[in-house]
Amino acid sequence: MSEGTRRPIIAGNWKMHHTHLEAIQVVQKLSYRLDRSDYERVEVVVCPTFTSLRSVQTVLESDRIPIALGAQDVHWEEKGAFTGEVSPTMLAKLNVSFVIVGHSERRQLFGETDETVNRKVKAVLAHGMTPIVCVGETLEEREAGETAAKVDGQVRGAFEGVKAADVAATVVAYEPIWAIGTGRTATPGDADETIGVIRGTLRDLFGGPTSSAVRIQYGGSVNPGNIADLMAMPEIDGALVGGASLDPDDFARIVRYGA
Ligand code: PGA
Repeated sequence: MSEGTRRPIIAGNWKMHHTHLEAIQVVQKLSYRLDRSDYERVEVVVCPTFTSLRSVQTVLESDRIPIALGAQDVHWEEKGAFTGEVSPTMLAKLNVSFVIVGHSERRQLFGETDETVNRKVKAVLAHGMTPIVCVGETLEEREAGETAAKVDGQVRGAFEGVKAADVAATVVAYEPIWAIGTGRTATPGDADETIGVIRGTLRDLFGGPTSSAVRIQYGGSVNPGNIADLMAMPEIDGALVGGASLDPDDFARIVRYGA
């Protein structure tokens, strides 16, 4: 499969923003601004907080809005004594299609490791959902020339023991930590180069056909002004958008890049 055949995927990561009432409004407004041709060009995903998933699911399904529902995290166990956690079964029951796994905020602030990321990836796949596996380097690592080694290690850790057939359908998000929420974007060339490294690791682990099928997003200060240049790069298959996804006008402009 060549890059031309990978369907672009643009996902909004709302992080800890929007009450369920706000989330309902945002997704409704987003749906007014997008039409069939947008959904044909791009797979659109919104990832609200756990407390908004049910409300957003209801709006999407009752109005037949073809935006996919995503969650921001998950636990790997089915159920049990894990106070505060949410299981993959619970997400799948809400028709959640995508689950962000290993976001740098979870890794840096909440102790997520390559091992827990790997367990979560397997759990998400086992429940018929698609993980959006986040990888990326710190500014220190970039300046020390360690970017390629860092993302290579994170990809190996995340996909350890996962079958090639499952890997093909997954999404990876390359998010340099220094570009998240800072207004500092990686240049399209730098992002493309690192995404090429990620695809090379996947090729090494799972072979060419699988690595060519995986969609790899860029994330980190994506906005309506820089999305088209990013999407023009051959290795970049989409975007994981934080701040600019909170506003339905901005997010719709991102989805409609180049239209
Ligand atoms: P940002 O966040 O777009 O606000 O930089 C991206 C992310 O963390 O997924």
